[in-house]
Amino acid sequence: MSRPGLTELSGYAEELIRSRHATRAFRPEAVPDETLRAIFSLAGAAPSNSNAQPWQVEVVSGAALERLADALQTAHAEERISVDFPHSEGMYSQVHQERRSAFGAELYGALGIDRGDHRAHGAYNSESLRFYGAPHAAFLFVSGDGGARLTADVGAYMQTLLLAMAAYGVDSCPQGVLSFYADTVRAELGLAEGRLLVGISFGYADEAEPVNRVTTKRAALESTTTFHA
Ligand SMILES: Cc1cc2nc3c(=O)[nH]c(=O)nc-3n(C[C@H](O)[C@H](O)[C@H](O)COP(=O)(O)O)c2cc1C
Repeated sequence: MSRPGLTELSGYAEELIRSRHATRAFRPEAVPDETLRAIFSLAGAAPSNSNAQPWQVEVVSGAALERLADALQTAHAEERISVDFPHSEGMYSQVHQERRSAFGAELYGALGIDRGDHRAHGAYNSESLRFYGAPHAAFLFVSGDGGARLTADVGAYMQTLLLAMAAYGVDSCPQGVLSFYADTVRAELGLAEGRLLVGISFGYADEAEPVNRVTTKRAALESTTTFHA
């Protein structure tokens, strides 16, 4: 296979990177095993500090995924929260909060849920623990001491994985909410080690669902990036 020329490659990259988006309603069809292996093998090409590759990846499907969804919903109902990486509203600056609320307005608008309807928000969060109907979920754990640099490596792995999925026509949604039940995930999967960063639901989008037509904007280049010369 000949390597595409640079112009062609940047065209593919634009299409691949910009076509990936969070999918929140899936069809039940499973991704073929061969495709799963190709995707996760490609994701392993992600860069990391000194090539340490500190990711521990658990891919869950079928009956195991059903059991996990039940356990997560039970943990949610019983308020058994367990996080490996601290989370608080205070970690967001004002500009982060403004972007979050713009995104929330888009998402909950598409779902027909009112801003102040805490009950409906709670029900939707609980339902999201069933992986938005996806037939698979991948859990990304940080192996080793779980410090910031190793965790950043797993972040790089996550995006490489999401793009590998997009390249193979597989849709995805990273779900930080799944990491709020780290002990439940470890117990269900029989794991003794690793700090849970994020879970990713994946499969094939149900294009008929309006929630999958939510679009997100990005900050202007100048507001995040400075070119020094
Ligand atoms: C680390 C991480 C955690 C996320 N957690 C959730 C989540 O818990 N639930 C959810 O529906 N989307 C979640 N998302 C998806 C983001 O909302 C989404 O990536 C963002 O709004 C940008 O939209 P896009 O991915 O469609 O471009 C998460 C994304 C990342 C990267």
